[in-house]
Amino acid sequence: MMNGNHPLLEVRDLRIDYDISGAASWRRRTITVVQGVSFDIAPGETYGLVGESGSGKSTTGRAILRLADVSGGSVRFDGQDLTRLPKATPLSYRRDVQAVYQDPAASLNPRHRVGRAITETLQRHRIGDRAQRRSKAAEIFKKVGLTEEHLSRFPGQMSGGQLQRVAIARALVLEPRLIVCDEAVSALDLSTQSQIINLLKDLQADTGVSYLFITHDLGVVRHISHRVGVLRRGEIVEQGPTREIFEDPKDEYTQALLAASPASHPSGRTERRAARVRQRIEMGKA
Ligand SMILES: Nc1ncnc2c1ncn2[C@@H]1O[C@H](COP(=O)(O)OP(=O)(O)O)[C@@H](O)[C@H]1O
Ligand SMILES: [Mg+2]
Repeated sequence: MMNGNHPLLEVRDLRIDYDISGAASWRRRTITVVQGVSFDIAPGETYGLVGESGSGKSTTGRAILRLADVSGGSVRFDGQDLTRLPKATPLSYRRDVQAVYQDPAASLNPRHRVGRAITETLQRHRIGDRAQRRSKAAEIFKKVGLTEEHLSRFPGQMSGGQLQRVAIARALVLEPRLIVCDEAVSALDLSTQSQIINLLKDLQADTGVSYLFITHDLGVVRHISHRVGVLRRGEIVEQGPTREIFEDPKDEYTQALLAASPASHPSGRTERRAARVRQRIEMGKA
């Protein structure tokens, strides 16, 4: 498509309503779970969307993935309004915008070797012939810190961190421009978390991909995001460069969130304790 001066993703005044009228109901009832949400993501940028459970983070991500209907406002990707795209999402959009979720095992067939998840993704997008898909899969596995041998493993034979690498490989192999990472490291232990975060950063430096990094964990978002938006009950209460949000939060709710998150206080006792635990983990593995 095109590029120009506009951001890669432009979310403007987004509203998302859910239909909560049961099947037997004749009157339509809705609840608004996202309202007035606006933010941009530039090419090669990571935007962190944080907030408590139920604040509307995943719903926002789902709208961008076209898995939730937009009730108001607009989402533009590369200048194109998503609400104007045909109902069946075009293949090009499904290639440009990928997702990585919290539980990689859930999206992998336990009876298939994990390499197949990659080759089938390529096949669905009509990329390469059999041999080319196979070598592309080997190549992408190496890029995410796995080996060619891992291609023939079953999901049950891999650790949580390795499975998340498979999920990242599957997203990345399509050379997307945006990856929605929804709690992508939330289920991992601290040392695996930092390995995956470093991997995502390296891949971004390498490919220029953008991330919408959704998490309830402020400690995590601090280490990966260029900018952060704080979501509360479906509305962004504050957004700005990560440093500003963490060092000088203006909004009371952001301040409360930070106070409740031990990992986001670099000087706090809890963080020092967590750092010692992390160090021990690293040494134990070495
Ligand atoms: N399909 C749905 N139908 C009705 N309500 C939903 C649906 N999905 C999510 N919700 C509600 O929308 C709100 C936001 O959910 P979600 O976006 O998953 O929050 P988060 O990811 O921040 O935890 C919650 O109150 C949730 O219960
Ligand atoms: Mg969620």
